[in-house]
Amino acid sequence: MDLISAKKLRRTFGATVAVEEVNLRVGAGEIFGLVGPDGAGKTTTLRMLCGAYRPTPFDDGSSAEISIAGFNLLTQTEEARAVLGYLPQRFSLYEDLTVLENIRFFAEVRGLSPSEWLPRCMEILAFVGLDAYIHRRAGHLSGGMKQKLGLAAALVHRPRVLLLDEPTTGVDPVTRQDFWQLLIRLVGKDHQRGVAVLVSTPYMDEAARCTRIGFMSGGRLVLEGAPAQLCARLEGRVAELVGQPLPALRHVVENDPGVSGVQMFGDRLHLRAQPGQLASILERLAQSLPTQGYEIKQLRPIAPQLEDVFMDLLEAGQ
Ligand SMILES: Nc1ncnc2c1ncn2[C@@H]1O[C@H](COP(=O)(O)OP(=O)(O)O)[C@@H](O)[C@H]1O
Ligand SMILES: [Mg+2]
Repeated sequence: MDLISAKKLRRTFGATVAVEEVNLRVGAGEIFGLVGPDGAGKTTTLRMLCGAYRPTPFDDGSSAEISIAGFNLLTQTEEARAVLGYLPQRFSLYEDLTVLENIRFFAEVRGLSPSEWLPRCMEILAFVGLDAYIHRRAGHLSGGMKQKLGLAAALVHRPRVLLLDEPTTGVDPVTRQDFWQLLIRLVGKDHQRGVAVLVSTPYMDEAARCTRIGFMSGGRLVLEGAPAQLCARLEGRVAELVGQPLPALRHVVENDPGVSGVQMFGDRLHLRAQPGQLASILERLAQSLPTQGYEIKQLRPIAPQLEDVFMDLLEAGQ
């Protein structure tokens, strides 16, 4: 069953079209990743799905349809909100209150009674790994712990649909890893009941862990699929080059007529070939680069990665 189903999401701000005709479906047990550059429309999409923004009608008077766990968000707002958990991009907790006081506040807002809130808060704080810190003031938590408290707050009423807006941006890699383990456990743990997660992220390693990914650019969902499916689009078209000096090499490779794009990945380059061109490019470069004085340590075809796919899409859209 689709826990999130949105048709023709659209939102404008004055002359800015933030989101343009986005269709989304996320099923129980899925983690759907929204990725895309700043300003792509990810936050606006999530805000429409949690009911914070109303979709903008089209010129013909028609408007988006949003269904959350079978409830129409626009007409059955209370029922839909009751099954929704939302962690905003800039989540604010009460810095002067302790961890437990913060989570209690969110539990009470969500209507949990005095007999329910304490066991539920302890359960959810244990789930996110904050049970040892219940009496610490939120203002004294690390960035990663604050994000986990935010996740706990979004989960306190056992939502079936979880919307997370860049929950790990600016958090250290170890905590990002922990956070994703939690999401994966959540979807697995609640599998019987069925939970759907929609999460925006700027990190490709996180996108790679999603069941499906939607790539947004300029307010549109330009490509959607499982990570392996998306990578398959560039199968046989990506190579890796390690050598010296890298910036100059990049320039030379970019000017090869068969190359459609080049990206720097730390100490190496990824080059994307036009369809059917990879073998001839590699042959050409292997011959010409050493004679031009470049030191080539590695030049070989590799399996495409999500970064390659997204760069390809972004450049194609320009
Ligand atoms: N409240 C707002 N008022 C005016 N413009 C907005 C507002 N919210 C978002 N926008 C614009 O809509 C576009 C999409 O923004 P946003 O959804 O925040 O993108 P993302 O989350 O992908 O970075 C941007 O051009 C942004 O400037
Ligand atoms: Mg955003």
